[in-house]
Amino acid sequence: MYILGISCYYHDAAACLLHNGRIVAAASEERFTRKKADPSFPRNAANFVLEEAGITAEEISAVGFYDKPFLKFERILTTYLDTFPRGFVSFCKAMPIWLKQKLWIPQEIRRELGWKKDVLFAEHHMSHACSSFLCSPFDEAAVLTVDGVGEWATATYGVGRGGEVEILKQIQFPHSLGLLYSAFTYYLGFKVNSAEYKVMGLAPYGEPKYADKIRSLIDVRDDGSFALDMSFFEYDWNLRMTGRHFEEHFGSPRRRPESELEQFHKDIAASLQVVTEEVMLKICMHMYEATGRKNLCLAGGVALNCVANGRILRETPFEEIYIQPAAGDAGGAIGVAYYIWNTLLKKERVAPVRAPYFGPQYGDEAIQMMLDAKGAVYRKLDRDELIETTAGWIEGGKVVGWFQGRMEFGPRALGNRSILGDARDPKMQSTINLAIKFRESFRPFAPSVLEERCSEWFELETPSPHMLLVAQVREDRRTIPAVTHVDGSARIQTVARRDNELYYDLIAEFERRTGCPVIINTSFNVRGEPIVCTPDDAYRCFMRTHMERLCVGSFVLEKESQPEFEDGANWREEFELD
Ligand SMILES: [Fe+2]
Repeated sequence: MYILGISCYYHDAAACLLHNGRIVAAASEERFTRKKADPSFPRNAANFVLEEAGITAEEISAVGFYDKPFLKFERILTTYLDTFPRGFVSFCKAMPIWLKQKLWIPQEIRRELGWKKDVLFAEHHMSHACSSFLCSPFDEAAVLTVDGVGEWATATYGVGRGGEVEILKQIQFPHSLGLLYSAFTYYLGFKVNSAEYKVMGLAPYGEPKYADKIRSLIDVRDDGSFALDMSFFEYDWNLRMTGRHFEEHFGSPRRRPESELEQFHKDIAASLQVVTEEVMLKICMHMYEATGRKNLCLAGGVALNCVANGRILRETPFEEIYIQPAAGDAGGAIGVAYYIWNTLLKKERVAPVRAPYFGPQYGDEAIQMMLDAKGAVYRKLDRDELIETTAGWIEGGKVVGWFQGRMEFGPRALGNRSILGDARDPKMQSTINLAIKFRESFRPFAPSVLEERCSEWFELETPSPHMLLVAQVREDRRTIPAVTHVDGSARIQTVARRDNELYYDLIAEFERRTGCPVIINTSFNVRGEPIVCTPDDAYRCFMRTHMERLCVGSFVLEKESQPEFEDGANWREEFELD
């Protein structure tokens, strides 16, 4: 039985196809359209998952949508009336798209897919909750979802048992930890719903001097529930997140995008991070008491805050944590599909979802055709040669584009669409940031480490296969500066051989040569660009940047041997900066 899950029309549209409870394929629309966080109907992603299964829409048994548009619409109307007349401009801007598209989702799905039956719906946070619990290895767990906003809920907690999640408590719009984080993202001059992770990356450079000022914006009770003082925020009625009152409170205007980052901005980021962690810890402590469960599942955009996740793991009594790797809205497509399979149809749960390699893959034949069409100069290697050559390049200080197997689902590149480098090289961080990804030099890189070596190098005893936990690099192992943040921390990906053999073997070969089981892993893209999907995207990214080597399938390419690459002079304007 096939079940198709869809999320779209807010940000990060995606499609996911289950076959008898296993994910056959899943992908975000942005990877195909090359438009970051593309919210439009996931036509390409849906076509891809059906093609991957070799079926047509007629063979699908159920189609699910990841939230309930009428409830969302109700929230928008109610908020408009509550804030009348201030919200008139924003209301007028939102209405046409609702009336034309968002309220007609079943019709849209039928039209786009040629689907003839009813479409099923799950509430937004139920989709998030199911995406985590029903993919987790736990029979029972406490389940926490925290994001910007769904229909009304902005955070929920409950208990997962067997095939379902019971939501026990929720916090409603406009009170939202995700929107609080986004409001500061906006205030710091970054792109909302996209660059929140930069604020997290900036935080260790600052002091939490403004934590008290932020605490005065949010009333947190002992059970972790909270309310924002909405006189400081404008997102409930305006087209911007914060305004004059907020700026006066912090004594500085909003930072202009792309202008210099001053110490003040770093201190604000540090303060916000501290308060976010406090609230998350409080909620989790309360949940532990209230649910009596030992394991925790997390999802929703705030669950991508891996610094907070690391603290939850260390400082709460929860024994094990599962975080859905696509914790943002793309993961809603997985969530609603499992909601239908396990909760509505009451089917048994299948093996947990480990590594999210659910995207397209390309065989050597297709790759070679593309390379020939470009006139690229390459060598074809066997598996052992590929591993030895690549490990040798990384050891020699080369930056390598690594394109192998199926594309990852979710925001992290986990070793199939990655740029790799030597973590021991102190210059690597600025080289890759400035010459390859064209992004801010402060942004740290994440390490990939062999799973069984992790605790020797990092203060982390559990696997972190999805790069969603931050922990300290051990004092005596501070020999990997390119992945060690200013505060000594690292955002870790542990690599197990059973999840990704080729990538594991590559790192193992690097360790054999150097004694270091850690390499840099950053996503294969430039700033503002979605992660590369096809060999063609990979070649283009390779040729446009100062990346020196490309390994795509069995083929390896050296930059200096390539023919002139013809490209529009303004290609960097192709991708909107985040
Ligand atoms: Fe969400």
